[in-house]
Amino acid sequence: MKRIKIFDTTLRDGEQAPGYSMNTAEKIEMARQLEALGVDVIEAGFAASSNEDFESIKAISDCVKSAVVCSLSRLVREDIDRAYESVKNAARPRIHVFIATSDIHLEHKLKTTRQQVLDRVRELVSYTKSLCQDVEFSAEDASRSDWKYLSEVFSIAIEAGATVINVPDTVGYATPDEMYSLICYLKDNIKGIEKAELSVHCHNDLGMGVANTLAAVRAGATQVECTINGIGERAGNAALEELVMALNTKKDYYGCETGINTRQIYKTSRLLSTITGVSINPSKPIVGANAFAHEAGIHQHGVLNNPITYEIMSPESIGILKNRMVLGKHSGRHAIEARLIELGYELSEQELEKIFVQFKKLTDKKKAITDMDLIALVGAEKLSDGEIYTLESFSIQSGSDTSSTSSIKLSMGDEVIMDAAIGYGPIDAAFKAIERITKTGGELVNYTIQSVTEGEDALGEAMVKLKDPDSDEIFTGHGLSTDIIEASIKAYINGVNKLLSSRL
Ligand code: KIV
Ligand code: ZN
Repeated sequence: MKRIKIFDTTLRDGEQAPGYSMNTAEKIEMARQLEALGVDVIEAGFAASSNEDFESIKAISDCVKSAVVCSLSRLVREDIDRAYESVKNAARPRIHVFIATSDIHLEHKLKTTRQQVLDRVRELVSYTKSLCQDVEFSAEDASRSDWKYLSEVFSIAIEAGATVINVPDTVGYATPDEMYSLICYLKDNIKGIEKAELSVHCHNDLGMGVANTLAAVRAGATQVECTINGIGERAGNAALEELVMALNTKKDYYGCETGINTRQIYKTSRLLSTITGVSINPSKPIVGANAFAHEAGIHQHGVLNNPITYEIMSPESIGILKNRMVLGKHSGRHAIEARLIELGYELSEQELEKIFVQFKKLTDKKKAITDMDLIALVGAEKLSDGEIYTLESFSIQSGSDTSSTSSIKLSMGDEVIMDAAIGYGPIDAAFKAIERITKTGGELVNYTIQSVTEGEDALGEAMVKLKDPDSDEIFTGHGLSTDIIEASIKAYINGVNKLLSSRL
């Protein structure tokens, strides 16, 4: 079996996409989960792009133990220095430098010549190597570059010390046949290619990101770049879960394996969705709500006889035991702890205690607690640090002919504070009442609600993004409940608590 390295760029290319920005604490949470998933490389950010990115990469470098932590940089000396500063404390640091090589980019973006790019590659890849042993070099827009020139650029990069050569299909223009031919050509024409890892990075503009990546693997690529849920610039990047499960499910065909613990896939996908508030398309392969749902009678009958009739992989293989009633009202702390361990969580006593309290509250409202509920509870718990205000109670009045009114009771230490407000709808009224109590001045810039599980007692997960007018910093709040108004109120309070904690 050939070992394919999984390079995850959720926190860089993924985070760059609109609606997916994460703060440092959220990126750390995500990086920890990516490590548990077993990715080989975590691209943690683009250090020179902002101070926040720089600080996040540094923080991730400090906490990730086994995976390589990678920092992206333009092929510019100051950016490379910044990238090095951001990862130098990582157990296994990598600097990833890139420069465009297509004539389109050279003429219209960089305003430079092919020769000038070659000279820059030689000089600055060597410089990067003088700082860090592990250097990845990417030729941006490689798939639209002249192949002969491209192999010349890569040959120089390897001579200058690059350990990984990456071939991006930056604009998602390639087809699987073209990608296969390009990788075969590069393998035959790059001098010293046997000394370097050959990587691909395929965008999804024509919906072929995963197919192109798999074609590249067939042609000999040994590292694949991808993101959780396929997030990324424009139409996104190749989705990690799709690539990994394709390689796994079709092992005989590809003859490849990865270091991914596939049972962590669902959890990782959910965590990203919880953090960003962007829900997963129900039809999304592998992790979508319908990925293992069988609606047609003939299909249901077949699956009941034997799942392999209509399932090419099992939900268990990605870490979901769908519809399984694992726990209920009478389940004790030990049963929950044991189930969480089976699901792959390592939780402190304190975290476990908090989850148990939430679990007990949930059993009052929901009889059957599934693995998906438990995964959602842990996700919400991990993102709800630093409580200043907690919700005591609320009451809302709403109707088609009247304004909505809300009254909210919060506690802060021993103090209980109550206020009321009128709003355009129940959520607006509730948020206004919380603001009257907490007086943050925070501006609501985003609000989403999604269902985490199925059925009439499904758990709703709300996410709010609050902007602090003093610092312009955005704080994300999360809330979980079987009642969507309560979930929204909890999310708003969670956001307020984070905003206020930052001012302490
Ligand atoms: O799509 C792209 O070309 C990139 C590079 C920086 C690798 O993201
Ligand atoms: Zn990209």
